Amino acid sequence: MYTEKVMEHFQNPRNVGEIENASGVGTVGNAKCGDIMRIYLDIDENQRIKDCKFKTFGCGAAVATSSMATELVIGKTVEEALKVTNQAVMEALDGLPPVKVHCSLLAEEAIHAALWDYAQKNHLEFDGLVQPKSDIHEDEESQDY
Ligand code: FES
Repeated sequence: MYTEKVMEHFQNPRNVGEIENASGVGTVGNAKCGDIMRIYLDIDENQRIKDCKFKTFGCGAAVATSSMATELVIGKTVEEALKVTNQAVMEALDGLPPVKVHCSLLAEEAIHAALWDYAQKNHLEFDGLVQPKSDIHEDEESQDY
């Protein structure tokens, strides 16, 4: 059902963890399955992503897509990272079963939420970057993930 790449990223996820004093943090949840993903970005003064880490409380496909998404955005500028769609993440993983496509959307949304947070903190605007719908704010959380 899963490709080798999906299994590999699920078993050895890259960039798991958090970044202290991150430039941007985004947390999104999927209302249907209840899974949650948080992305941390470290962005330098040239708007280039130096580091990206994630925490995912979700299914195997969510873990694999977040792992791949972090790898795809590290080294990119904010504008380039905005073009990393869930489609690109899925392609990099050699595909996902149709019922798991929504899991890859979580990764895209979490990255956008973290980029939005960065943009807000720095009073910046980027084409195509809009306020995430499903961002979970700190004060709405009942616990620290
Ligand atoms: Fe919820 Fe995969 S089933 S993210």
